[in-house]
Formats: sequence, C-alpha cells, structure tokens
Amino acid sequence: MHRVIISGVGVVIPEASITNEELVDSFNIWVDAENARREITGEEKLAKSDTDFIVYASGVKKRHVLVLDGILDPERMTPRIPPRGDDELSVMAEFGVASARRALDDAGLGPEDIDLVICAASHHQRPYPAIGIEIQNALGIKGAAFDMGLGCSSAAAGLHVASNLVRAGGQKRVLVVTPEIITGHLNFRDRQTHFIFGDASTAMVVEALEEGETRPGKFEVLDTRGWTQFSSNIRTNLGFLLRAGQEDTSAIDMRGNMIKQVGNKVFKEVTVAGHRFIVDFLAEHGLTPHGIRRFWLHQANARMNAMILKLSFGHDVGHDRAPMVLERLGNTAAAGAIIAFKENHEDMKAGDYGLLCAFGAGYSIGGALLRKL
Ligand code: COA
Repeated sequence: MHRVIISGVGVVIPEASITNEELVDSFNIWVDAENARREITGEEKLAKSDTDFIVYASGVKKRHVLVLDGILDPERMTPRIPPRGDDELSVMAEFGVASARRALDDAGLGPEDIDLVICAASHHQRPYPAIGIEIQNALGIKGAAFDMGLGCSSAAAGLHVASNLVRAGGQKRVLVVTPEIITGHLNFRDRQTHFIFGDASTAMVVEALEEGETRPGKFEVLDTRGWTQFSSNIRTNLGFLLRAGQEDTSAIDMRGNMIKQVGNKVFKEVTVAGHRFIVDFLAEHGLTPHGIRRFWLHQANARMNAMILKLSFGHDVGHDRAPMVLERLGNTAAAGAIIAFKENHEDMKAGDYGLLCAFGAGYSIGGALLRKL
C-alpha cells in the first residue's frame, strides 16, 4: 500500500459576478410581468424574492457565473452559451482544463505525469463521450479517463476513488477535475433556488508518496469515506427519457426538470447526517472534532455549516476553524469545499489535521481526513 498525497489544487472562478440586488431586481421585474399575465388568466400570483431573506437564510451575497449574458434579462433568465460543434472543445471540458492546468502547475507536474483523469461533477454536459476523456485529450494525457457524479459530493467521491486507486498501486497520479456550471441548469425563475448557486471549476492531483519521500507543505490523504441515503429532496429530472414521456417530442420541455429542492428538509436531514458522519469518521481514527485544525465543508448554507459544527463540537465554532467562501461565491456545488481548502491551508503547521467534507444530493456525503506534511 502506498501513502497518498494531494500534490496540487487548481481553482478557476469566472470573472463575471451577480449581486443579490441584481438577481432579485431581475426576478421581481419578471414576477411583475408574470403576475400581470396571471391577473388575466386567474392563475395564482407569484411572490417576490428578497435580498434580506437570501442573506439571512443562506449567507450568500453574490455569485460568480461562467456566462453572465442572458441571466439577468427578465425575458430570458438563462445564460446564453452558444452551442459548439463536435470538433470544438466543449464548454465544460474547457472550464475543467483551465482548473486542471492550475492543479498541475501547483503540483509541479505536466500532463505526461498523469495516468488517469476523473471528471467528477454534479452535472455533465452530455453522457458521452465522457467529459473526462475530452479533458484528457485536450491536455495530452495518456492512460484513461471517466466521468462520475454524486451531486455536491462529486469531488469528494472522486477523491475517494482516486486515493484508493493510488493507495492500492492501480494508478500513479490521478487528476480529479470538477467543472461546475450550475447556472446552466438552474431555474432563475424559481424563488426557492434562484439565489443559491454559482459557477467554479476545481482540480486536484492525487499521487503516491514514494518510499522515504517527504513533500513538506502538501497534504497526506490518511483516509476517505462515503455515505449515501436515497432522497428526492434535491433532484433534477433532466434525462434521456424526458422526450419519451412527452406527447410533443419535437423539443424537451425544461420546465419542472431543472434543479429543485425542499431546502428546509435538506437543511435538517443533512445537518443531522453530516455531523454524525464527521464524528463517526473521526472516531474511527481515534480523533474528535477538537483534534482537527481545519474543516473544509461543503458550501451550501452558512447556518447549516454552523449547526453541523455546533453539533459536532458541542459549542459554536468560528470561521478560522471552518472557513466559508459561500458569501462571495454562492453554492458552487462540488467545487465549494475544494475552494475552501485551496484558500485556507497555508497557515496550517506540519502535523495539523484537516477534514474535507462535502454533502448534497443523493443524499450523499464524502469525507477525506488529511494531515499536513
Ligand atoms: N425570497 C423571499 N422569501 C423566500 C424566498 C426568497 N427568495 N424563498 C423562499 N422564501 C420564503 C418561503 O416561501 C417561506 O415562506 P413561508 O414561511 O411564508 O412559507 C420562507 O421564506 C421560508 O422558506 P424555507 O424554504 O423554509 O427557508 P429556509 O430558511 O429553509 O432557507 C434555503 C431556504 C434553501 C436557503 C435553506 O433551506 C437551505 O440552504 N437548505 C439547505 C440546502 C442544501 O444544503 N442543499 C444542498 C444542495 S447542494
């Protein structure tokens, strides 16, 4: 068995951003127009969105988006991302390649050093050819690639698979790439979810530590763990059978088939499951939350993370122990915990433990116990 490290992490956050005020303005303009129409048809009126609610309920103040064009236009409320030809690099692969290059630079490696690419993300642009293979091809990596998805736990699940493959000697260096373009699948006309998500791409290089090798400053992956329990409380029904379920088969009807969630149920159920996961996983290693210098948690909701930590520790825990990037980035799905890790590890000392823990649709939870070398 090999010891395993994360030798490089790359993050790409798109330049364009949307504040709560801008998002709510556009939403409410659309609601006014829609309610004027409903006045005539007699349909139930829609409620407006509210910036104070968004900050209080979620902690999100703004989010970055891959493509701003179209999102704030009340007539469209969908990013305008022109289709590309089959001979062009696809949008998701391009986003993934950008973060992968940064991860390789961070690790001091080149594409020739990698022997497996896993594209682990909550949404894939298409079923096949795998986005991972397209990323592999664009970077000129030999070996193999595949896609995997587990909602917001996708990157943690990718790390779980990559670490175990490297630990067992099946692969030498694995690139786990997580390009998240959530805005492409978000219903900006749904008051319950329109404010939650943002786009970001991350990548990690997972590799074996050679016998006697020391890599000061890098993080050893001591163990990884996964947990799932079926729930429809975060769900998308977009899929290939949609067309077959419609009478008019000429175009797929996206209404009702984008991300939906019963937020308050998710909040309660995942908070309970999340804190149990953390306590039990650490206990397997003879540790308690108090022994962990830093928690890099999934970035879905500031109150939810505070509650998970309070249940785990028995008291409130500050942002130094569990940093948040949600306020400025929104929920970037599986990328969130990796961004929190990337931005908050340099001050840690050799020997410090850290816990990366993501949770989300499925339900799913993925954790990685790390120690700084
Ligand atoms: N503006 C104003 N009010 C809104 C609103 C908005 N955009 N969205 C919902 N509301 C209203 C609701 O209609 C409800 O009104 P009511 O009490 O009159 O019925 C009220 O606010 C409370 O709604 P609720 O859904 O219970 O809010 P909440 O406090 O649970 O916060 C979330 C909503 C989504 C922010 C929160 O539940 C959450 O983040 N859950 C976890 C999600 C998660 O972890 N997902 C993981 C996937 S990655």
